[in-house]
Amino acid sequence: MAIEVYISQVQIEKKVKELAAQINADYHGKEVVLVGVLTGSFIFCADLVRYLTIKNSIEFISASSYEGATTTSSGNVKINLDLKRDIAGKHIILIEDIVDTGLTITQLTKMLKSRNPASMKLASLLFKKVRVEHPLTIDYLGFEIEDKFVIGYGLDYDGYYRELPYIGVYKA
Ligand code: IMP
Repeated sequence: MAIEVYISQVQIEKKVKELAAQINADYHGKEVVLVGVLTGSFIFCADLVRYLTIKNSIEFISASSYEGATTTSSGNVKINLDLKRDIAGKHIILIEDIVDTGLTITQLTKMLKSRNPASMKLASLLFKKVRVEHPLTIDYLGFEIEDKFVIGYGLDYDGYYRELPYIGVYKA
């Protein structure tokens, strides 16, 4: 099956630079902890961090969310890989590859806020606005996209295609 370029490598690079410039301006003189949500955000994180001029460190987290009947104080989220360091009092930017229904990031934000960071913002390369079920604010958004299943630039289909340097869709 053929893959069609949906967002090109050049468009992505331009956008990542713009987002980094915004972050550099917003956090001027401050230190941030970037929290990349695995696995899909690893390429976005790697590119974004190289354009940051503010003091920063990077951590990764892996979580699975689920809609369940039991609600705990930390939300319905299972942490598969947790942060190595305490985030209390730190300025956090959560980095996602894509916000689809918004469930994962809503649950993760709730859980991380319970650890008392100084602030928490969200960056996402992609946003499927028509699909969102959990209203949220994306502070640093790359591209709003249609309701299409996309691959590449970290995003997978069954574990594959993460290495594509662009965002692609399957061509029917
Ligand atoms: P949400 O919890 O529904 O917002 O789902 C977010 C997660 O679903 C993302 O972090 C991706 O791992 C995955 N996902 C959603 N849409 C796509 C897509 O179009 N391509 C690849 N992965 C996707």
